[in-house]
Amino acid sequence: MKVQITSNVFLRDKYLLMEFCVPAGFAKPEPGQFLHVRIEDSFDPLLRRPLSIHDVAWQARSRSGQKRHILKILYEVVGKGTALLAEKRPLAQIDVLGPLGRGFDLKKINRSRCVYIVAGGMGVAPLFFLAKTIREGQKGKGPKIVVLIGGRNKDHIIREKEFKDLGCEVHVATEDGSKGVKGRVTELLKTLLPAPGAAGSPDDPQGPPVICACGPKAMLSVVAGFAQQKGLAAQVSLEEFMGCGLGACLGCVIRTVSGYRRICQDGPVFDASEVIWTE
Ligand SMILES: Cc1cc2nc3c(=O)[nH]c(=O)nc-3n(C[C@H](O)[C@H](O)[C@H](O)COP(=O)(O)OP(=O)(O)OC[C@H]3O[C@@H](n4cnc5c(N)ncnc54)[C@H](O)[C@@H]3O)c2cc1C
Ligand code: FES
Repeated sequence: MKVQITSNVFLRDKYLLMEFCVPAGFAKPEPGQFLHVRIEDSFDPLLRRPLSIHDVAWQARSRSGQKRHILKILYEVVGKGTALLAEKRPLAQIDVLGPLGRGFDLKKINRSRCVYIVAGGMGVAPLFFLAKTIREGQKGKGPKIVVLIGGRNKDHIIREKEFKDLGCEVHVATEDGSKGVKGRVTELLKTLLPAPGAAGSPDDPQGPPVICACGPKAMLSVVAGFAQQKGLAAQVSLEEFMGCGLGACLGCVIRTVSGYRRICQDGPVFDASEVIWTE
């Protein structure tokens, strides 16, 4: 489906936020789902690029008062496809397939008293939409949201303010210590979990916390190990190179306890305990 870009701006360095309208028939996305984006009409780049849905304004009103749906993607320029995407100006068109994949299990999240959202680098992209959806569904109730953002240095920490504006408790870790706590975001997670019996601790009588994470596979593997050690539920959003994005080419499979699964269709969000993390 062709969509028209309404805005495509650099937030800083190599990070951009793109906004476009989708027609009324477009399925309402769930947090954790992604779009498969064809960047050019030509065959170069040949393959679509998977990009998470970062934010959604469903039934926003245009200046003329008409209802319209707005989707946002947050992306980092890493190669040819994303560099071409960064050159797109308002009114240009791109072709998007989606929303695709299986997102976060909101029912499980909403049953907990506290959700720890752990983002490594561009992992913030789908997690912002997750935090916003939890917040919007709460109506005064629902889990407390603690967000942990990790990056190599302060320039790799994005969307901190936006999470705070949602009312989330936000913590930052950088590997060089230029912002927040020095070290990895997974170390920060270990220090933030409250003492036994306290609200949001693993043995909180009103429901143990849930961890939701997105980032590099090595980081997610540490999160999964930590969750298993503490007996906590964790949902992780995985990234892999993709071909079709529709479950047909088997280009994105991972090993799980129930056999090979396709990240594009069975995921990208999986229960961390399902994934076999060793290569
Ligand atoms: C489900 C899913 C959701 C994603 N959401 C986002 C998002 O919201 N924002 C964002 O910036 N990126 C996201 N990505 C990663 C994004 O798809 C890649 O960065 C993009 O396809 C790179 O395209 P390119 O042509 O610019 O780079 P290429 O020229 O194809 O590659 C450049 C570099 O990026 C690495 N790379 C390429 N694709 C991937 C990938 N899928 N996973 C890991 N490394 C890769 C390559 O190893 C290479 O080093 C997501 C990936 C998946 C699978
Ligand atoms: S990308 Fe083709 S099966 Fe997942």
